[in-house]
Amino acid sequence: MSTAHHYLGIDLGTSEIKALLMGVNGEVLAVAHAPLECMQPQPGWSEQSPASWWQALVLVCKQLQLEAPEHFAKVWAIGLSGHMHGATLLDSDNAVLRPCILWNDGRSAAQCTKLAQLCPDLQRITGNLAMPGFTAPKIMWVAEHEPGIFQRIAKVLLPKDYLRFLLTDKFVSEMSDAAGTLWVDVEKRAWSATVLTATGLDCSHMPALIEGSGVSGFLTAGAAAQLGLKVGIALAGGAGDNAASAIGIGAVSPGDSFLSLGTSGVLFSVTDKHRPNTANAVHAFCHALPQSWHQMAVMLSAASCLRWVTQLTGFASEADLMDSVALLTQEERAHAPIFLPYLSGERTPHNNPDATGVFVGLRFGHAASHVAYAVVEGVSFGLLDGLNALRSAGSHIEQTQLVGGGSKSEFWAQLLADVLEVDIHIGKDSNVGAALGAARLAQLCIEGTAPATLAKICTKPAIERAFRPRAEQQAILSKRYAQFGAAYGAMQPIFYAAAH
Ligand code: XUL
Repeated sequence: MSTAHHYLGIDLGTSEIKALLMGVNGEVLAVAHAPLECMQPQPGWSEQSPASWWQALVLVCKQLQLEAPEHFAKVWAIGLSGHMHGATLLDSDNAVLRPCILWNDGRSAAQCTKLAQLCPDLQRITGNLAMPGFTAPKIMWVAEHEPGIFQRIAKVLLPKDYLRFLLTDKFVSEMSDAAGTLWVDVEKRAWSATVLTATGLDCSHMPALIEGSGVSGFLTAGAAAQLGLKVGIALAGGAGDNAASAIGIGAVSPGDSFLSLGTSGVLFSVTDKHRPNTANAVHAFCHALPQSWHQMAVMLSAASCLRWVTQLTGFASEADLMDSVALLTQEERAHAPIFLPYLSGERTPHNNPDATGVFVGLRFGHAASHVAYAVVEGVSFGLLDGLNALRSAGSHIEQTQLVGGGSKSEFWAQLLADVLEVDIHIGKDSNVGAALGAARLAQLCIEGTAPATLAKICTKPAIERAFRPRAEQQAILSKRYAQFGAAYGAMQPIFYAAAH
């Protein structure tokens, strides 16, 4: 039996937690999943219970221990990835003050406007627009609407950093996730006292900041006993889920990119330096490696729209519904409704929490398959808006890797190639990218980030399937994309009137 060390990557996703065991040569040895619930206390709001993250983590570790006991016993370091921007509020006894307000929660639009007024240098310091999903405006919402809770805040932690606290007893965050709070000077890679002050907080409310590949702490005896792991194992800084996915597919050099179809839809591009472009609501954040940055176009609903329409139409699974979509003729697709996919509002390029889902052009003749086609096409058009925003921000994307749950559908991958007019590649392990990236960061925290080590660990996966744009689809898709844009323009005042 080999004595080689293994690495554990934990990805706290929105709909499930994943834990992945990786061997020393980067091989995926075992993966475990446990579902997570979101709460919508009001339309447009989105919350999760931090206690449920820990319960789910214990479950996935138990599963791994049962399925792969020999591998699990060799875990030598842990890396964390998690959904970004969530506000986990702790009091001075480290008790959680309220449910975590998530990245797709749109309640704090008014606070975004207020923050931009209170802190005129906000865009220069952070390189980003104040958008409702980000952490800082959400804390201003708490200050206004739940002042008793605001006064008791001792620490604000991002979701995966709360798990880290439970694992190590340390308050630590890392650059890629912290950049999404809107409290970080992204170019300097440090908390900004100016922005913190504008939101009524200071550096004492923040965890320490390290790089994703640094060591953040060590597993406590209590956590080790609950998870079945060894005391004192190192925890890497880790990354926000998108930067972790990038590490997982080897997107570490300027120009590398990926497209993620998860609950959110993300186009991610590594940049040579901090390259902000706030005009189109582009996110310009730190990457998870030292002196590295990235840009993102973020849609708030992507594969989650397919999940939604599958439940609505009563199909047994997303795959079954997509099978029926794949049978549609070109003529039928040309006459399908147009769908605006803003079921949770939208960030890039509209920055509009009031936007909602809309079908345009429904007829009696439309069946579930036409509606489902409209849904995946609408998400693809939203991603084209995002691609255009990234292009205007200087990113050049001619080909990209598809990752996340949506990468299971070949039909959707081909549609994305046609809509975006870029080559779409699907690599090995495309569905576990963030957990794999977290495991790779764990290995990097032990082995260091010298160029040769980075090249050895952050490899690009073997391409298993490739999809090229088909010229004959362009005329009809361009016409429908123009209708999609016009539908958003026409709906904008109605979205506003309905929400205010
Ligand atoms: C990125 C974003 C989402 C979440 C959830 O800005 O909000 O992608 O990280 O995955």
